[in-house]
Amino acid sequence: MGRGTGAAAGAAGRCCRRFPAAATGRAGALSRAGRGRHHAPAGDASEGAYLARIGNCLTCHTVRGGAPFAGGRPFRTAYGTIYSTNLTSDPQTGLGDWSAAEFRHAMRNGVSRHGVLYPAFPYANFAHLTDTDIDALFAYLRGLPPVQAPAPANDLVWPANWRPALVGWRMLHYRPAPLAAPADASPAWLRGRYLVDGLGHCAMCHGTRGPRGSLPADGYLAGGRIPGQGWYAPPLDSRQLARYSVDQLADYLRNGATEHGAAYGSMAEVVYTSLRHLRPTDAQAMATYLKSVPPHGGDEAPDASRFLYAGAQPTSNPHNGGRLYQDHCASCHGDTGEGRGRDYPPLRDAVSVTAPDPINAVRMVLYGGMPPTTEGNPRPHSMPPYAGRLDNAEIAAIVTHIRSNWGEQSRPVSPADVAAYYGIRGD
Ligand code: HEC
Ligand code: HEC
Ligand code: HEC
Repeated sequence: MGRGTGAAAGAAGRCCRRFPAAATGRAGALSRAGRGRHHAPAGDASEGAYLARIGNCLTCHTVRGGAPFAGGRPFRTAYGTIYSTNLTSDPQTGLGDWSAAEFRHAMRNGVSRHGVLYPAFPYANFAHLTDTDIDALFAYLRGLPPVQAPAPANDLVWPANWRPALVGWRMLHYRPAPLAAPADASPAWLRGRYLVDGLGHCAMCHGTRGPRGSLPADGYLAGGRIPGQGWYAPPLDSRQLARYSVDQLADYLRNGATEHGAAYGSMAEVVYTSLRHLRPTDAQAMATYLKSVPPHGGDEAPDASRFLYAGAQPTSNPHNGGRLYQDHCASCHGDTGEGRGRDYPPLRDAVSVTAPDPINAVRMVLYGGMPPTTEGNPRPHSMPPYAGRLDNAEIAAIVTHIRSNWGEQSRPVSPADVAAYYGIRGD
């Protein structure tokens, strides 16, 4: 799968040389000459439809209640709110007027005719895509019915509201590097890495964030609290995923529930909107790659001090967490947290009990949950919410019990922690 040739490469070259214009003018990334009507894109639109699902373009580019792919979904960041754009074929407000070269340039370099794009758009991942796959995506998007929908104005604080400031951010934090192919890599491993690091943009949630929301190389798939969400995403590596075989992990990705764990929170959404559509061979390839990622952090215990514990000092809790667990939880999760097959996940070694950050465990007990409905798990069982049934001190006691017994996280969770997580918006 080679790089672009001929006329397309020429057009991309034009647009790259003009890149500095973005530093001085808002819409300066491409000249008028680079635009205009273009004949039907050459890519394979049906492959593009598949790739768009794996890249989850629809979820980010659709606002609740809005037309599919017409944009407008808000993204809260440390600097304010950014809105996704219209990817339909509307010539004024969507991609109807774009050339294939312009689209490639936006996907690869995060620069469009609107200037430098914010990293809420995962171009650092999409940069890995082959030309063939980018062209397939473009052919698919250009086949979507046009919807006129201008993106709402972003609501950001200075200097983030000034697109040229992104050039400075980019120079500090963005390092596009081609993926090297190790000599002993199997085709499945290479395909898996291509999907995980490229379209799947898994590190966007599963990476450890550095200064100002950057994703430094040493935070790659190292886990952390997801910005703007009330969820912690675990590291993805051979140690975290040791309890799954490659087949079981592929099953988790496509079906969202296995006897070793069920997807919840924003991962349930990722499985439902995207990964359940994976071809079996692609799920297997991703699992093969993920199981090969070297463990993060060596033998040291993960550092829990980075995470929010509202209770400044560990508190003694008058409630007996073990007894409350037996009364409220053991019927589904088992007396010793062993779970019941795929219907009720084990708590022993579960993400939420081993994580340094207790937020997932607290939020699951507060709100309950249900794994995504998938072909392999068409009638998922659910967990009820306990927010109205147990008070904060009881929830704190239960969560402390499950984490200290089955996750070896000795830091107690306090009622104040539960109150603090209650307030965090979860979407
Ligand atoms: C995690 C959310 C997210 C995902 C996933 C995502 N996008 Fe976006 N995308 C955004 C946001 C936010 C913007 C607006 C960025 C800005 O205004 O600087 C954007 C902007 C774009 C732009 C630039 C449009 C313009 O008018 O300048 C293109 C092209 C694009 N996305 C294509 C895609 C495609 C194709 C996919 C799927 C393969 C995709 N995006 C997946 C969030 C996302
Ligand atoms: C929108 C944020 C988000 C994205 C994107 C995302 N994840 Fe997750 N993921 C999470 C969260 C939150 C959890 C913890 C909840 C859970 O275990 O279901 C999680 C959990 C997981 C787990 C379970 C780990 C375990 O030990 O049981 C796996 C496997 C996983 N993700 C794989 C992936 C892969 C592969 C991708 C990319 C295709 C991905 N995730 C993309 C948020 C995300
Ligand atoms: C009716 C059965 C049921 C009961 C009762 C129940 N759960 Fe659950 N629990 C589930 C199911 C099903 C899931 C998976 C939910 C999902 O994927 O969204 C789950 C998931 C969880 C998780 C996330 C595990 C992980 O992989 O990280 C935790 C933590 C949890 N439950 C704790 C509890 C606690 C504590 C109680 C008692 C207060 C409880 N549950 C009561 C069914 C139950």
